[in-house]
Amino acid sequence: MKEILKLKNLKKHFPVKNSWGTDVALVKALDGVDLKIESGKTFGIVGESGCGKTTLMRTLLRLVEPTSGSVILSEEITGNNFSSKNLEELTSEELRNFRKQIGVVFQDPMGALNPRMLIKDIVSEPLVIHGKTDNVRSRVIELLENVGLGEEHLYRYPHEFSGGQRQRIVIARALALDPKILVLDEPTSALDVSVQAQILNLLNDLQKKYDLTYIFISHDLSVIEYMCDRLAVMYLGRVVEEADTDELFSNPQHPYTKALLSATPSFDKNKDKIMILGDVPSPINYLDESKAKLATEITEQEKLEISAIEGKGIDYIVRSSLNEVIPLVQISDGHYARVRQQ
Ligand SMILES: Nc1ncnc2c1ncn2[C@@H]1O[C@H](COP(=O)(O)OP(=O)(O)OP(=O)(O)O)[C@@H](O)[C@H]1O
Ligand SMILES: [Mg+2]
Repeated sequence: MKEILKLKNLKKHFPVKNSWGTDVALVKALDGVDLKIESGKTFGIVGESGCGKTTLMRTLLRLVEPTSGSVILSEEITGNNFSSKNLEELTSEELRNFRKQIGVVFQDPMGALNPRMLIKDIVSEPLVIHGKTDNVRSRVIELLENVGLGEEHLYRYPHEFSGGQRQRIVIARALALDPKILVLDEPTSALDVSVQAQILNLLNDLQKKYDLTYIFISHDLSVIEYMCDRLAVMYLGRVVEEADTDELFSNPQHPYTKALLSATPSFDKNKDKIMILGDVPSPINYLDESKAKLATEITEQEKLEISAIEGKGIDYIVRSSLNEVIPLVQISDGHYARVRQQ
């Protein structure tokens, strides 16, 4: 396996202040993530809203400073023939080069496009910022053609496009500087299913054409299954399970992964159906020790929900049972999960 990028115990905690401006709690948006991203493959990150997916991407790109931990870049990214490098050690010039190697498709396609800019300016902006101003027009046309648009779209504004076309523009722009990695944060979640499929196929074609590595963030498991070679399931700022896609879908170990898989539509009548009971837990940890207790007891809400489904033969897990932090163990070659060892 040829690694292009490695995350080591990456943490990002946001302070929560009271009205006096004193820190009272921490949102542990990312709480010790270790990942190895293989070159030329698609690595998926899946998990429900608020589990830290976007924070992972922002920390990885150094758009926010990590609280601790490191991002290690391979020589494929640093362009340095003999060693890999820690992201924190980069000089500002090296950081600029690093940013060229990673294209980003942000979560909200409309927010990512300035409504007052013409498409030609939106797509050429990264080229201008990095001083690559030779033949800009033909490069922009080439980029647009790559994503199924063309010269006729140069002098239009974002609002004149459909959602799927806007996402194509965002992808064209992300590819402007010939990146090696593309980070895609929920690239298709705002689109309807048929357009979603077109964009996913486009991404697959571009990956082959340019030998790209994808980091693909989504809460949609069917999209993840279609796109990814390997994936990590996140829960409350941590990876609870990681494996190759086939292995994870056929042999899930963590109760949260099992529940996620059971929630995807399927024609298989014998598939396990597991409900998750209880509210989504808060990632806030109070600094005051007396409040800092990890909520692992069954809550009143969960008791109510359990009594409501009792006797109906429904399998369930409760949220509070997921809050306890268990170390990652190896299940088989390349498959890790936070489960108790027998
Ligand atoms: N700048 C910030 N300041 C304080 N808290 C933040 C900040 N950014 C994110 N958070 C918190 O960190 C947690 C993780 O947020 P994040 O946006 O990474 O989730 P996500 O997995 O991308 O969710 P979604 O699927 O809804 O996009 C949330 O509880 C969020 O409120
Ligand atoms: Mg997000």
